[in-house]
Amino acid sequence: MHVSVLRSEVLEGLAIKSDGIYIDATAGLGGHSRDIAERLETGKVYSADRDAESLEMARSNCGEVAERIEFIHSAFSGLKDALKARSVLPAQGFLADLGVSRMQLTTPDRGFSFMADGPLDMRMDRSQGPTAADIANFTSEKELADLIYEYGEERRSRRIARAITGARPIRTTRHLADVVESAAPRMGKIHPATQTFQALRMKVNGELDEIEALLDSLLSMVAVGGRVAMISFHSLEDRILKRRFQLWGREKKVKILTKHVIKPSEDEVAGNPASRSAKLRLVEVL
Ligand SMILES: C[S@@+](CC[C@H](N)C(=O)[O-])C[C@H]1O[C@@H](n2cnc3c(N)ncnc32)[C@H](O)[C@@H]1O
Repeated sequence: MHVSVLRSEVLEGLAIKSDGIYIDATAGLGGHSRDIAERLETGKVYSADRDAESLEMARSNCGEVAERIEFIHSAFSGLKDALKARSVLPAQGFLADLGVSRMQLTTPDRGFSFMADGPLDMRMDRSQGPTAADIANFTSEKELADLIYEYGEERRSRRIARAITGARPIRTTRHLADVVESAAPRMGKIHPATQTFQALRMKVNGELDEIEALLDSLLSMVAVGGRVAMISFHSLEDRILKRRFQLWGREKKVKILTKHVIKPSEDEVAGNPASRSAKLRLVEVL
């Protein structure tokens, strides 16, 4: 079961108004959208995800409050246009809970994880290419090494890239995990393929470019006085958010509400270990 992270902190941070318009850019399995919708009377949530399968699950998980939510199949880069077409902007609050959902990670067929064997896919939106197998099989060794180094923050990237190109074609998650492990044996508790999988996932989904695109359109989607909540799970994402928020702070476009990021409590991490790397940043639009 997917457990939404930092639930009370997000709700408090967004300071929900019962007649407000709220945008959840990452519906996932609908946890945060549901929390927000439960606090609305005449307001509405526009809940988007680039993963059509997640949207279906989110709708059914939201039960009766789904009446106050419109689900939209959109990536960050298309979100502003999708909302403009509905004439609902500007919103009183905006949430993005970045990364992948538990459903995506644990469904073998989606190919995100080495924990179970499946096709090497990793696309959040399965209507768009390329897959992780395309990248693993058709990228030059140098580019692959750079990618694993930059997005995976993996020091053994060259050895891993050489092993991948030598083992082509690679079509399954297990095969890739075994190839990585043979080139870069386990050193600690973390599986040696973790960073390589993360790098491929970020590349397949253009994750950092998508975050930049979201930030480029964000301020025009939120009303003055509206709140923005962003949850990131690793340092590359958080760095992009931090820098942009600081820039907007200096330009007096936002007031930064979290001088230090908000992290899950010990209790939350004990109940949901996957939450341990979550960081929440909040701003208010000026
Ligand atoms: C961590 S989950 C969100 C979980 C959700 N907050 C909940 O409570 O269930 C992240 C979701 O964001 C979606 N996502 C990631 N990047 C996206 C993007 N660029 N555009 C749209 N959706 C994206 C993923 O498909 C995934 O479903």
